[in-house]
Amino acid sequence: MGNNSRNISDYTKFIVDLRRHMWMAGIEMELRRLIWQIAVTGKYISAKIHESNRKLAGLRNIHGDEQLALDKSADVILQNQLQYSGFVKAYCSEELDRIVPYEAPSSKYHVTADPLDGSSLVDTNLAIGTIIGIHRDSPLAAEGRKTMVGAMYITYGPLITMVYSAGKGTHEFVLNREGEYVLSEENITLDEKGSIYSLGGLRKDWLPEHLKYVEVLEGEGYKLRYSGGFVPDINQILIKRGGVFTYPGTRKDPKGKLRLIFELQPMAFLAEQAGGMATDGKQDILAIRPESLNHRSPIYIGSRYEVEKAREFLT
Ligand code: F6P
Ligand code: MN
Repeated sequence: MGNNSRNISDYTKFIVDLRRHMWMAGIEMELRRLIWQIAVTGKYISAKIHESNRKLAGLRNIHGDEQLALDKSADVILQNQLQYSGFVKAYCSEELDRIVPYEAPSSKYHVTADPLDGSSLVDTNLAIGTIIGIHRDSPLAAEGRKTMVGAMYITYGPLITMVYSAGKGTHEFVLNREGEYVLSEENITLDEKGSIYSLGGLRKDWLPEHLKYVEVLEGEGYKLRYSGGFVPDINQILIKRGGVFTYPGTRKDPKGKLRLIFELQPMAFLAEQAGGMATDGKQDILAIRPESLNHRSPIYIGSRYEVEKAREFLT
């Protein structure tokens, strides 16, 4: 870290907004600007959510999910904001079936997006979110640990919050009424062991080894916390400082449901930067090289104790 790097607590008299935080952490300028741009885009997506009045488009996306107009709108907003930013070399998202190159010859970064995760929860007014991965190369070029330089998510709930990591810890910001992202949790650090679990998939479809693992957690008194939105479910584990989220492989879908590039890698990056772990049961999520944009994987993510325990049962 260069001269830019100072202790945030020296500045407690001031509001630490996102730009100030990234500058003090000594994050490289182009990456800072990109993260800033995406955080601002979250405000536009949020405005779109408000104005949508929860309308369904009745379309299906390339993965066969029912697609709200909102998914598509969030994707278009992100593309519009990033295409001419000069910071993005290529963009791909859950709503597209290809990597779209942008004309930013000097830029280094490939951006991946799940523009509006959990969008089917809009009608019930549960929290939803945007998930972003930032790579120095194509996300298909190598395992995530080699290509990723940053990750972030934005939650649209009672508050709008943004959690980012550029490889120097995981930090949370809250959007205030003045429209600034203000630091709320610096260097989020997961406890070795938590007390909540979030279990995806149907119990009747779980494989015996997964079921045994869950029974151990149940025996230890874990509390169930599952909203059906990946972003708020992961956010809960980070903000409560521990626990585990699982979406396992099942008999029907041995590779689970969630997408490696758009959902799992960014969350694994944020969890690891917070001292947690993420595995598919056998190897780290960030050690997997995606085979395609649509690559799915089982996931066990959260505090070390629970994720290591999952590995004992699954390997
Ligand atoms: O994007 C897929 C998703 O909506 C995630 O946000 C969430 O974790 C998961 O699917 C929920 O799946 P299910 O409805 O099977 O519990
Ligand atoms: Mn999603």
